Amino acid sequence: MYYYRKVTDDLYWVGGSDRRLALFENLFPIPNGVTYNSYLLMDEKTVLFDTVDTSIGRQFLENVEAVLSGRSLDYLVINHMEPDHCSLIDELVLRYPDMKIIGNAKTFPMIGQFYQLDLTGKTVTIKEGDTFSCGKHTLHFIMAPMVHWPEAMMTYDETDKVLFSADAFGTFGAVGGTIFNDEIDFDRDWLDDARRYYTNIVGKYGVQVQNVLKKAASLDIQCICPLHGPVWRNNVEYLLEKYNLWSTYTPEVKGVMIAYASMYGNTENAANVLAVKLAEAGVKHIVMHDISRIHVSQLISDSFKYSHLVLASPTYNGGIYPVMANYLDDMKALNVQGRTVAVLGNGTWAPMSAKQIEAKISEMKNMTLLTENFALKSSLKPEQMEEMDMLVGKIAESITA
Ligand code: FEO
Repeated sequence: MYYYRKVTDDLYWVGGSDRRLALFENLFPIPNGVTYNSYLLMDEKTVLFDTVDTSIGRQFLENVEAVLSGRSLDYLVINHMEPDHCSLIDELVLRYPDMKIIGNAKTFPMIGQFYQLDLTGKTVTIKEGDTFSCGKHTLHFIMAPMVHWPEAMMTYDETDKVLFSADAFGTFGAVGGTIFNDEIDFDRDWLDDARRYYTNIVGKYGVQVQNVLKKAASLDIQCICPLHGPVWRNNVEYLLEKYNLWSTYTPEVKGVMIAYASMYGNTENAANVLAVKLAEAGVKHIVMHDISRIHVSQLISDSFKYSHLVLASPTYNGGIYPVMANYLDDMKALNVQGRTVAVLGNGTWAPMSAKQIEAKISEMKNMTLLTENFALKSSLKPEQMEEMDMLVGKIAESITA
C-alpha cells in the first residue's frame, strides 16, 4: 500500500525509511535507521526530484504511482548521483518511457558509469543559474560541487521557495510519519545524528559548503527538502546556522572531549583523574569516550562539537594504539581543524605515543597543542600530579578565556 505526504499544494514527499540497514555506506552505524527522500511536483509537467535506495524501491515506486494518479512522469531531476539516491533510475526509465532526465554536465557521465542505458533524446543538460518551467512552478538550478560528490546540485522552486538541497541539510535517522521539522523535537532527537552525518559525510568539504551557503543567502528559502531526514518547513535559519558553524569548523560547545584508549585501565585512570580535576576547575562540558568502545564517526562528530580535545593512548608496536591511529587519520581526512588539544601518552618500556600523536596533530590545520610529550610510564604517579595540575589549569584557562 502506498503512502505519501503533501509538502506544499503541488509537492509530495514520496520517500521512505530503512530501519534494517546496520551500516550506512557499509561504514557508519545507523541505530536509528536512515531516510531516503524523494519529492514529486504535480504541475503542468510532473517532475520527480531524485529517486531512492533499492532497499525501499518497491515502496517508492508505489508511492510515485499513487501521487501520479494515472498521469505519466515527465521529468526526473537528478540532484545527486550517489546510489543511495539514484538506484531507481533504470526502473523509472522502463516504467515511464517518455520521461526526460534533467541533470548537469557531470551527471550524465555518472549515469553511464552506473548503468547501461540508452538515454538518447531523453536528457536535458542544465548549468548554474538555468531555469526550467514546469507550468506554474519555475525551477532554478544551483551547482553544489563536492557537497558531497562533484556532480551534486540543488534545485530551487522559485514559485513556492522550496530548496531541494541534495545531501546538504540531511541527517541519519528514519522518519516515522512525522516528516516535518515542526512535528519533531530536532534538538533532542535528531541533532546528534545530523552532526554525525554532516561531519563524517561532508565534513571534509567545509569550503565547498560555505560556497553553497553564500548562494543560498541570496534566496528566499521557505522550505528545505533534503535527501535524508526531516523536511524543514519553518525555522530554516536554525539549520543554516548549524551548517555555518560546522562548515567553518567552529566549535558549538566550549568544553572538552576526552578520547582515551586503554589496554588495562591505567591510561583510563589518568583520563579520569584529568576529567575530575577539570570539573573541579569549573569546566562544565566534558564528554569522555573509550575509543575502543565507540565508533570513530562519533569521535569525529564530537571533535566538531567541542572546542578542546584530550587524547590519551598507550604505545603499541612502538607507535600509536591502533584505534587512536585510526581516529587521527580520520580527523586529518575530514579536515578537523582549529581545536585546542592535549595529549597523554603511556608506555611501559618506550613510551612513544604522546610524541607521535602530537606530531599528527601538528600536521592538521590551526591546532593549538597544550602538551609536549606528557607520557606516563605504565601508570600515573604522584610525582606527575604537578604536571597534571598545570595541564588542567591551561585547559580551564583557555576554555574560560
Ligand atoms: Fe546521500 Fe552522497 O548520498
